[in-house]
Order: sequence, then C-alpha cells, then structure tokens
Amino acid sequence: MKVVVLTGAGISAESGVPTFRDSDGLWEGHHVEDVATPEAYDLQPGVVQRFYDDRRAALAGVEPNAAHRALARLEEFLGDDLLIVTQNIDDLHERGGATRVLHMHGELLKALCRACQARVPWTGPLSDFPPCPGCGATELRPDVVWFGEVPYEMERIVEALESADLFVSIGTSGAVYPAAGFVQAATRAGARTLELNLMPSEGTHWFREARHGRAGELVPAWVDDLIAELGNPS
Ligand code: APR
Repeated sequence: MKVVVLTGAGISAESGVPTFRDSDGLWEGHHVEDVATPEAYDLQPGVVQRFYDDRRAALAGVEPNAAHRALARLEEFLGDDLLIVTQNIDDLHERGGATRVLHMHGELLKALCRACQARVPWTGPLSDFPPCPGCGATELRPDVVWFGEVPYEMERIVEALESADLFVSIGTSGAVYPAAGFVQAATRAGARTLELNLMPSEGTHWFREARHGRAGELVPAWVDDLIAELGNPS
C-alpha cells in the first residue's frame, strides 16, 4: 500500500514549536507577511534574519514527540511505500527517525545563497551576513519558502499523490496552497483520505474520514491500526 503523509505545524506543537494560525494570526509576535515574504526580506533583511536565527536556535531545545516517532515506525514497516511531505521547516521528523521526508517549505537548518543558489547546511546565525562557503558572497538567506515563492519538490509530490492508495494529513490548517489541495489530488487518484488534526481543518470536508485530537495520541494509534491491518490481510 502506497501512503503519502502530509504534515504541518500541528505535529510539532506538542514538542513546543509554535504553530502559525493558533494565536490571533500572530507568529511569535510577528505578522507572517512581515517575516515570511521576499519583500519583507528586501525591506528589512536584519529583522527577517534575526527572526529565523531565533527559530533555528530554538530547535536545539525541542525534541521529537510520539507522533514523529510513530511515523518513523511506519516508515520502517512500509519502506519506499511511505512518503512524508512536510510543510514544517524544523528537523523533528528526521530526529524522530524518519528518512523519506520532503521539506516542501524548505529547512531552517539550511541556508540559500542568493548569489550562487547553493543550498548549504547551516546551524548558526545568518543575521551577521556570513560569507557563502561556496562563492564567498554575503548573500545567504534562510532556505525557507516564503509566500509568493514556489515550494520545493512539487514534481515528486504530485507523482506520489497520483499513485497513492492512502493520503493522510496531520496537523495542518489547510489554509495554504498547494498543500491544501493535495487531498483533492489524492482523491482524484482514487486514494482513501484521512485527516488527523486538533480540530476540523478548512478542507476537512474533502476527507473521507477525519479524527480530531492531539497528534501525539492520534498518530501512534493510527499507525498501530494500519500496521495491524497490513500485517494481517484478511
Ligand atoms: N495535534 C494536532 N493538530 C494540532 C495540534 C496538536 N497538538 N496543535 C495544533 N494543531 C492543529 C491546529 O488546529 C491547526 O489546524 O495544527 C494546525 C496548524 O495549522 P497552521 O498553524 O496553519 O500550520 P500549517 O498548516 O502547517 O501552516 C501551513 O503556513 O505560514 C505558512 O509556511 C507556513 O508551512 C506553513 C504553512
């Protein structure tokens, strides 16, 4: 069975990583458009860099939770038949043990050089505008996909959705496209669809089934059920 899992901020919430849309539209005290657009960066690069520097530094203080670990367990069982597509820029899927993860909105622990386009691993700050290890230009920005930019890995994602038997969306509000449209693509491809989220998402009616509650409880339970179902074909 081919399974595509889409994750959003809700899967990392119980690890202590703040979500985007659960607190009056403010994201750690900022309006998203003030820190997550190319225009914001052109206007106030220092402010945007410091915002992401703080989030990068905060990653050191958080740990994957039961939901991340459950998906790694599912990956061990399904191998290449599982693809995890995440909108999250944290590294909690990987630290939870998963390897088949596509970061469609980029990664906090990478920097992108605006001069030579290199994408390099990065753990320190960028607000002091360090030189690119490749070309030396002081043009490194966070390797995250801002509003108005094209998400990464779309070809591979579309291909996986077209051959999926099951599509599961975890901890995402369904407010941001193209990810919000994946459920429709999976449905067109004939996949079963399931939403696991704290509350009904904006696109909840598109899913054949929905379970509402905390990811740390719902995801391990769902993974147990699926492994039992696939392990005992009847
Ligand atoms: N368990 C499950 N779901 C949860 C939990 C939890 N413990 N806590 C919160 N949620 C749910 C919320 O109910 C909400 O529906 O997770 C969802 C988080 O939604 P958003 O904050 O909108 O995050 P996300 O959907 O990932 O945002 C998409 O928006 O700003 C951009 O690029 C950013 O990738 C991000 C994109």
